[in-house]
Amino acid sequence: AYNLRNRSFVKEIDFTPAELRHLLRLAEALKSARYAGTERPRLVGREIALIFEKTSTRTRSAFEVAAYDQGAHVTYLDPSGSQLGHKESTADTASVLGRMYDAIEYRGTRQSDVEELSAHAGVPVYNGLTDEWHPTQMLADFLTMHEASGKPYHGLSYAFLGDCRFNMGRSLLVMGALMGADVRLAGPGELHPPQDVVELAAEIAGRTGARLTITDDPVAAVRGVDFVHTDVWVSMGESKEVWDARVRLLKPYQVNGGLLQGTGNPAVRFMHCLPAYHDAGTEVGREIMEHTGMRTGLEVTGEVFDSSASIVFDQAENRLHTIKAVLVATLG
Ligand code: CP
Ligand code: NVA
Repeated sequence: AYNLRNRSFVKEIDFTPAELRHLLRLAEALKSARYAGTERPRLVGREIALIFEKTSTRTRSAFEVAAYDQGAHVTYLDPSGSQLGHKESTADTASVLGRMYDAIEYRGTRQSDVEELSAHAGVPVYNGLTDEWHPTQMLADFLTMHEASGKPYHGLSYAFLGDCRFNMGRSLLVMGALMGADVRLAGPGELHPPQDVVELAAEIAGRTGARLTITDDPVAAVRGVDFVHTDVWVSMGESKEVWDARVRLLKPYQVNGGLLQGTGNPAVRFMHCLPAYHDAGTEVGREIMEHTGMRTGLEVTGEVFDSSASIVFDQAENRLHTIKAVLVATLG
């Protein structure tokens, strides 16, 4: 009933709510087949270009393993290994890659770049994260919440705490609007999503019945929710210089044991797209935690990250199954 062949996925609204549900059902089927050992390759002979202008662990691995599971090939292009952006325009790169590849994944800074690729490539283009949207992450997050709660997509309730003007906050707002969910964003006023995104989400919610709240009150935001999401306080591409000011702004929005308890929901689950600063296990994390005295974690405490409420690794695994669904639906 759904034909998504040759469609691009550069932002959540590229698909209708019904099409997004179709992709999520396909992801569930592909996941079961992989576990059962009955997966059938539907992308044999397909060639996919993976362009990463920013680093990645999950998104790159998910695209590569999804492609290989389905019989496709990938080429990984990092910023130092291609002419893109330095010697060649995005439009010309799109025209060239479109002659050789059946699809292109792109991770970078500007949304306009992935949209330009998609306008010129003549093949499906997938956004593997920009500053504005992280659409493939949204499929994984919604599948994970559905699996963990057993609730239909319109019955999900979640809060996102932190920098609401960046990719994760914006995407969780708009995806929740599309799916008809109960969505709360909490962060300081200067880190709320821009007006055009708020209006887009509100307009969608008018059609889907989603309930949207944007507030600076973390305690009110989490009351009664089934899921609490957060993200790094300083994103890729932002200067290290902003850490001090950001920590000052976002400290009240840290996801810790007390905050989770404040949901009043003993079954509440913690989610994070990852990577996360929850311990001193990385150089940057160690530096900031020491410097700010936040020894138990930054956006999330180790106590929460390591608790049984945390489903971050189920969420990470679901990147594979959901990205595979996008590939199969658009190229299969
Ligand atoms: N969540 C996510 O996109 O992870 P990577 O940056 O490792 O791809
Ligand atoms: N907001 C983060 C998400 C990483 C997956 C970033 O853009 O760095």
